[in-house]
Amino acid sequence: MKHSVILDVDTGIDDAMAIMFAVRHPDIDVKAITCLSGNVSVDKVVANTLAVLDLLGAPDIPVAAGARRPLIEPARDASWVHGETGLGDLRLPAGSRVPEQVHAVELLRRELLAADEPVTIVALAPLTNLALLLRVYPEVADRVGRIVFMGGSASVGNASAVAEFNIWHDPEAAAIVLSSGIPLTMYGLDVFNVVEVAAERVAELAASERAVDAALGSLLGFQLVDPADGTVFSHPLIGDAGAVCALVAPELFRFERVPVQVDISQGIGRGQTIVDRRSYGGEDAVYAPGQEPWPLVDVALGVDTGAVLELFFDVVTGVRV
Ligand code: BDR
Ligand code: CA
Repeated sequence: MKHSVILDVDTGIDDAMAIMFAVRHPDIDVKAITCLSGNVSVDKVVANTLAVLDLLGAPDIPVAAGARRPLIEPARDASWVHGETGLGDLRLPAGSRVPEQVHAVELLRRELLAADEPVTIVALAPLTNLALLLRVYPEVADRVGRIVFMGGSASVGNASAVAEFNIWHDPEAAAIVLSSGIPLTMYGLDVFNVVEVAAERVAELAASERAVDAALGSLLGFQLVDPADGTVFSHPLIGDAGAVCALVAPELFRFERVPVQVDISQGIGRGQTIVDRRSYGGEDAVYAPGQEPWPLVDVALGVDTGAVLELFFDVVTGVRV
């Protein structure tokens, strides 16, 4: 089955790996890539995205810059995780072209209206661009078949004890997307954190003479040292790329369709995705009946890590792990 896809990214080490996988997967037709501030500023995200597309020999995919900052929060990047440029130690030649001269929201609208069939949006960044799209052009929502988003967690957070970075960065945008009525798949930290690559594999890739393999090795290798305290990790992650794997190979994951809400309070839970996995009604149903039901989301809660890695490396490098 061919998937028509728009990627919404903050490239970013693992966004770059997701782009590699999506562009090289034979059943994914990448219609456009929209960018926004997140891991690094949107200008760097656009530059990184164009450079990665050139590396992949895919210079025809339209790219546009979008949100410079979240709806309400100030811009706070993650360059301490992804490096100053956003691509760790990887230095690529500058992209050979400039982005589309329209805002990401306009490119999203254009591609959605032009598509013959519903498009899947794979969102790998804060959800600001998508929230803006839904507010400015709500009529295009029914052209979106599904939004697969990397974000949130049914357990621990990373940006805070309970909030994952993409949702924490712009909780209001996430709340808008969750309440859109569009079918949703959540690829959160529950699976994101367990698709780990062996350090030996990283070293092999980094030493490769093939440019994409070596770039992949560099992106993975940058994660071997914790930027916060210099601790050595033995197993870097494919991160956002796993969300694209979940689109094309859902059978490698265990999903539960459950109610999810974003905490947009100013409390210590701000940005948490509250995932209601109860199979029974609780005191809330007894003492506060008639509340608006929470959006139902297909949440990835389990993964066959070995099979996902095999798929990822098969597609990106053509070599089995
Ligand atoms: C998410 O935040 C970013 O650092 C990664 O690119 C990923 O999208 C993980 O919390
Ligand atoms: Ca990302």
